[in-house]
Amino acid sequence: MRLADRTALVTGTSRGLGLEIARLFAAEGARVLCHARTREAAVAAAEAVGGEPVWGDLSTQEGVLETAALAVAAAPELHVLVHNAGIGSPGSIEEHSREQFDRVMAVNAAAPLFLTQALLGPLRAAWNSYVVSVMEISSDEVSGSDTEGGTGSCRGKG
Ligand SMILES: NC(=O)c1ccc[n+]([C@@H]2O[C@H](COP(=O)([O-])OP(=O)(O)OC[C@H]3O[C@@H](n4cnc5c(N)ncnc54)[C@H](OP(=O)(O)O)[C@@H]3O)[C@@H](O)[C@H]2O)c1
Repeated sequence: MRLADRTALVTGTSRGLGLEIARLFAAEGARVLCHARTREAAVAAAEAVGGEPVWGDLSTQEGVLETAALAVAAAPELHVLVHNAGIGSPGSIEEHSREQFDRVMAVNAAAPLFLTQALLGPLRAAWNSYVVSVMEISSDEVSGSDTEGGTGSCRGKG
């Protein structure tokens, strides 16, 4: 896909893959809305890649809607939405808590769904738009008492 003159929103650009995706998109000529959990982090990411800041805590519906509202205000047309923000759940299966599970599901599954839903207007206005999810699927062998390395998990989004 040609990114010149397209608008993209990338979530989780405070560091890691999200920051690099935002940097790459900007280098390809895209207008990039750099999302981060906080306003401060989003401004820093936007300054680093030459984008525009958008922020919100994606573990809450309020944060998802805050992110969407800022994105809609900045860009009435959205050509690319990249769901990159995500969290893992380290620890053994014995230690895994219901709270951990709920948090992973909130950030990795609910947020992409409801952010996409809240951005359907700009995505449809762009006519030819793409929604991309950064996925991670992993599992660990459970043999005897050896469950070191974390619980089997699917961190795919949406
Ligand atoms: N690294 C790998 O080997 C690998 C492999 C396959 C897939 N992935 C997937 O690729 C994605 C990025 O990986 P990464 O290694 O770059 O991860 P990372 O360095 O841990 O960065 C995750 C990003 O998500 C943001 N984020 C987490 N929870 C958030 C929340 N509640 N609200 C808003 N933002 C939140 C983080 O913001 P904060 O800085 O505020 O925490 C950060 O910007 C993840 O979805 C991961 O599952 C990674």
